[in-house]
Amino acid sequence: MALQVLLRSVLEWTDVQSLLLFLLVFLLISDHFRRRNPKNFPPGPWALPFLGNVFHLDTKQPHIHFNELVKCYGNVFSLHLGGVNTVVVNGYSLVKEALINQGSTFADRPDCPLNRRINNCQGIAFNNGYSWKQATAGNSRFTVSTLRDFGVGKRSLESQILEEIKFLHQAVLEKSVCAFLREEIENHQKDWDPSAPRDFIDCYLSEIEKRRDDPEAGFHEEGLCYCMLDLFVAGTETTSTTLLWAFIYMMKYPEIQGR
Ligand code: HEM
Repeated sequence: MALQVLLRSVLEWTDVQSLLLFLLVFLLISDHFRRRNPKNFPPGPWALPFLGNVFHLDTKQPHIHFNELVKCYGNVFSLHLGGVNTVVVNGYSLVKEALINQGSTFADRPDCPLNRRINNCQGIAFNNGYSWKQATAGNSRFTVSTLRDFGVGKRSLESQILEEIKFLHQAVLEKSVCAFLREEIENHQKDWDPSAPRDFIDCYLSEIEKRRDDPEAGFHEEGLCYCMLDLFVAGTETTSTTLLWAFIYMMKYPEIQGR
């Protein structure tokens, strides 16, 4: 009631046009302060209010466009993307410095409500903080070390991949990836023997038991499902695109192919 009276008196006092103008100026100023960069922030193209650099992105050929931005602003530049101030780092040595040498400084993800809605920030790729470290890069480095124990990165895995891919192909044709993963977890739980782990799922089931008194670490059945989904999604498109580029480069430079 009080708000209605206040609104009515404001509207009587001023006309709609000036109210809209005031609102616009207010939004512009708050947007400016929200996106204000610290003093040492890397340079970048001028950003539009509200929209940022959305029109600076050439989504068809982003690699070529980013190269042009490098020529203009150097190997470290900034963009305003979706309301977030983003720093873009280019070149092997700088990327290595940021993601490997200073890895723990940069190992944090922005809080994204969409991720919370989709998988409650479980698994690996949308996880963050303590449970992400336990799953991937903490003292236990669970995912990385478990996958290595089962031969990831070694040539000996090739024959197993070729064997497994037949079953995976068949299963994915018959049902969705999620349904397939859930069924696999259930099957593993039925004849699980902690003293003889057969694969990643068995090791994760052991980790669930070990971490019962540390729920913050995020090891539970739901987390296992999202972890596998992340490995599946993160490992397929990336690998096929990398192979595709490798083939394209070898076609372009046949002398490399000859080696
Ligand atoms: C040549 C192939 C691959 C490329 C180029 C690639 C590239 C990348 C990159 C750039 C990231 C970092 C994303 C970020 O946090 O911003 C990443 C993360 C990740 N990749 Fe790969 N990847 C490849 C293969 C794979 C494979 C085979 C797997 C699974 C077995 C995998 C699983 C993951 C997972 C789970 C993450 C998230 C890690 C985390 O959140 O800490 N990737 N990958």
